[in-house]
Amino acid sequence: MMKTKITQYLEEVNNFNADNIEALEAFRIKFLSKKGLIPALFTDFKSVPPQERKEVGQLINGLKNAVQQKIVALKEAMESASETTVSGLDLTLPVEAPLGTRHPLSVVRNEIIDIFSRIGFTVSEGPEIEDDFHNFTALNFPPDHPARDMQDTFFIEKDPDIALRTHTSSVQVRVMENAQPPLRTISPGRVFRNEAISARAHCIFHQVEGLYVDTDVSFADLKQTLFYFARELFGEHTKIRFRPSYFPFTEPSAEMDVSCNICGGKGCNVCKYTGWVEILGCGMVDPNVLDNCNIDSKKYTGFAFGMGIERITMLKYRINDLRLFFENDMRFLKQFESAI
Ligand code: PHE
Repeated sequence: MMKTKITQYLEEVNNFNADNIEALEAFRIKFLSKKGLIPALFTDFKSVPPQERKEVGQLINGLKNAVQQKIVALKEAMESASETTVSGLDLTLPVEAPLGTRHPLSVVRNEIIDIFSRIGFTVSEGPEIEDDFHNFTALNFPPDHPARDMQDTFFIEKDPDIALRTHTSSVQVRVMENAQPPLRTISPGRVFRNEAISARAHCIFHQVEGLYVDTDVSFADLKQTLFYFARELFGEHTKIRFRPSYFPFTEPSAEMDVSCNICGGKGCNVCKYTGWVEILGCGMVDPNVLDNCNIDSKKYTGFAFGMGIERITMLKYRINDLRLFFENDMRFLKQFESAI
C-alpha cells in the first residue's frame, strides 16, 4: 500500500516540469513543507512492519532526493533561460568582434607621405600648442598684420602669446632652426582654427605642409614636384594650374588647382563646372623667413606648400560633408574597410 503510493509520487516527481518560480515553489511545498507529502510518509513509516522498514525507508529517502534534485535542476534551467532571453541577447553565442579599419584621413595622409618619401622628403612633427614666434613671427607675419586674423586663432595665453597652431608651417620653422640645408621635409598634423563648423569647414582639421630648401631651388622645381605629386595621387592624366595668391611667408605665392578627377575636366557640381579644383597653397620661401630661422637667404632658396587632408579626401572619395570625418559613425567608416 505504502510502496505503491511512493512509486506514484516518484513518477509524479519525475514527470514534473515548471517554467516559473511560483509553480516550482508550489511543488516544493507540496512535497517538502511540514505538512507536505514526504513528512506525512515519514509519519506513516512508524506503522510499517519491521521486515519492510529497510526497503520502505530507502524508497522514501529516494523520493526525497528526487524532489530536491528536481528543484535544483529546474531552478538552474530557469536562471540560464532568463540570462539568454533578456532583451533578446544570447550571451552564449561566440563573440563577433568587428575588426577596426583605418580612418579615411589616415589612409590619405599615409598615401601623401608615401608619395613624397619616394622623392626624398622626410616626415617631421611638432607641438600642437605653439608660441607666437613659430606660428606667426618667424613666418613673416608682422605684429598686428591682418593676415593673423585670416587664421582665426585659438589663443591659450596672451603676452607672450601661446596658441593652438593654425598650420603646420610652424613645424617647418622648427626644422629650419635646427638644421642647415639641404632640407626636404613634410609635416603632417592636426591644426586648429576658430571657424564655424559646417559641411565645408571645421575648427580642427589636418594638413600636410612641405618644405624644400637648398642652393638654386627654383619655381620650376616647385611646379615639377607638385605635378608629380598630383599625378601620383589623382592619376596620370591629372593636369595642374597655378593662380597667383598671397601668403606672408612665400613670395611669389600661388594656389594650385588640379583638373577635376570626377568629371575629368568637363565640368560637374564638384568643380562648380570649371573643370578645376583647388587643392593647395604654395610659393617660394620668403627670404625673411630663412633669415628668421638662421638660414642664409643669400646662399639658399626654397619652396613650400601646404594642403588640407580633409579637402583632398573629400575629392578622392566624393565625400560631401566634412563633419563626417569627426563623427565616428561606423556606417561611414566601414566604407573604407578595403582602403589601406
Ligand atoms: N600655411 C598655409 C595655410 O595653412 C599653406 C601654405 C603653406 C601656403 C606653404 C604656402 C606655402 O594656409
